[in-house]
Amino acid sequence: MDYSHVRDVDPEVADALEGEVGRQQDTLAMIASENHVSEAVLEAQSSVLTNKYAEGYPGERYYGGCEFADDVEQLAIDRAKELWGAEHVNVQPHSGSQANMGVYLAVLEPGDKILSLDLTHGGHLSHGHPANFAGQVYDVEQYEVDPDTGRLDYDAVAEQAEAYDPDLIVSGYSAYTRDVDWERMGEISDAVDAYHLADIAHITGLVAAGVHSSPVEHADFVTGSTHKTIRAGRGGIIMCREEYADEVDKAVIPGMQGGPLLHNVAGKAVGFQEALQPEFEAYAEQTVANAEALGESLKEQGLSLISGGTDNHLVLVDLRESHPDTTGKDVEEALEEVGIVLNANTVPGETRSAFNPSGIRAGTPSLTTRGFDEEACREVGELIYRVVDNVDDGDVKSEVSSRVDELCDAHPLYEELPSR
Ligand SMILES: Cc1ncc(COP(=O)(O)O)c(C=O)c1O
Repeated sequence: MDYSHVRDVDPEVADALEGEVGRQQDTLAMIASENHVSEAVLEAQSSVLTNKYAEGYPGERYYGGCEFADDVEQLAIDRAKELWGAEHVNVQPHSGSQANMGVYLAVLEPGDKILSLDLTHGGHLSHGHPANFAGQVYDVEQYEVDPDTGRLDYDAVAEQAEAYDPDLIVSGYSAYTRDVDWERMGEISDAVDAYHLADIAHITGLVAAGVHSSPVEHADFVTGSTHKTIRAGRGGIIMCREEYADEVDKAVIPGMQGGPLLHNVAGKAVGFQEALQPEFEAYAEQTVANAEALGESLKEQGLSLISGGTDNHLVLVDLRESHPDTTGKDVEEALEEVGIVLNANTVPGETRSAFNPSGIRAGTPSLTTRGFDEEACREVGELIYRVVDNVDDGDVKSEVSSRVDELCDAHPLYEELPSR
C-alpha cells in the first residue's frame, strides 16, 4: 500500500498519513482500545464500497446495484452470529457509541430511566454521561465499583436497581479489569423488569475467542466496537434476541443513520473471518496473559493496580499511593516522549479531575498483535515504571526511549510496511 495517489492530489494529507504509519511503527500503542488491523482488513476498508449507497438490509434495499453490498453485509452478519452465538446481528452502526444509541432508540422513550456505571469508575460516555446525548435524553442514575476492591458490588447494584426502578441497565465497561458476572446482571435487570444491555466494546474479541465469559445468553442486547480486542476495523455492532430484531434494525435505519459505511462493513466481514480462525483464540489468550504479565511487573516495581490485577486485556494503575505528586497526565506525557502511548485515566474515588486524573490505563491488544509475549510485556512494565518514577529525568527517558526503539524495530507492524 502506498499513498501515491493521495500525494499527487494532496501532499499535506499524504504527509500526515505517512507520518502516522511511522508513528504507529515507532511507538508502542498501549491505549487499551486500540489495535492494528491486518493488511486484508485495511484493503477491505479502503475499497470501492465507499462509493455505494445501500440503505436498508441485505435483500431489502432502497437502492439498486446492491448485489455485492448484500454479499458483504450478509457475510459479516453470518460470521458475527458464529463468533458470538447471537440470534440477530446488525453490523451497520458506525461505532460502538452508535450501537448503544441504536439500542436506546429501539426500546426506550425520552425520559426513560437508565442505570449504568459512573464514567470515573470505568463506565462510558454513551452510557448516560450528561455531556452525551444519552444523559440528555434519558433519566440516568449511576452505580459505582467498590472503592476498596475496585470490583463491582452486585448486591449494591441490585439494591440501587430496586430503589431506582430503571427501564434499562447497562453492564460492560471502558476501564474495568475483572470478569463480569453477566448472569447476575441479567438477574438484577429481570428483578426490576428492565432491559439488560451488555456493552462489550472493549472485550468483543476476548468474548468471541472464549477467553472472557459471554453475556449473550444473559442480556437482551449486546453491543460492541469492532476495532479493539477484535481487529475488524473501526465500527460498531449490535446483537440481540430475535424478538428485538425489527426494533433494532429500524432504530439503526431510519432511526439514526442513513446508508451503511459498506467499506467498514467489508472490514468487519474480513476481520470476523480472521477471528474465526484457530490462531485468533491463541491471540486472545496471549493478550490476556500479556496484560497479566504487565500488571505483575508494574506491581513488583511498587505500583498499585485497581482490583489488584486483571482478568482481561487492560490494567488500571492508581498512582495516588506510590506517586502522590505525579498525575496520570504527567505520566501519559512523559511516556509519550519515550514512545509509549497510553492514556491518563480516572480511578474509582477519583480526587483529581477527569482531565488530570490519578491513574493510567494500559492495554495489551496492540502489543500482542505485534508479537509481544509475557517476557516482553514484563520488560515494558519495567520501562513504564522507570518513567513513572522519573517523569522529569531526561537521561532516564532517553535510555527508555532507545529501548522502546529497539523493541519497535524487533516487532514490525506490517510485513510490508505501507510507505512512510
Ligand atoms: C464500554 C464502551 N462502550 C462504547 C465505546 C464507544 O466505542 P466507539 O469509540 O466505537 O464509539 C467505548 C469506547 O472505548 C467503550 O469503552
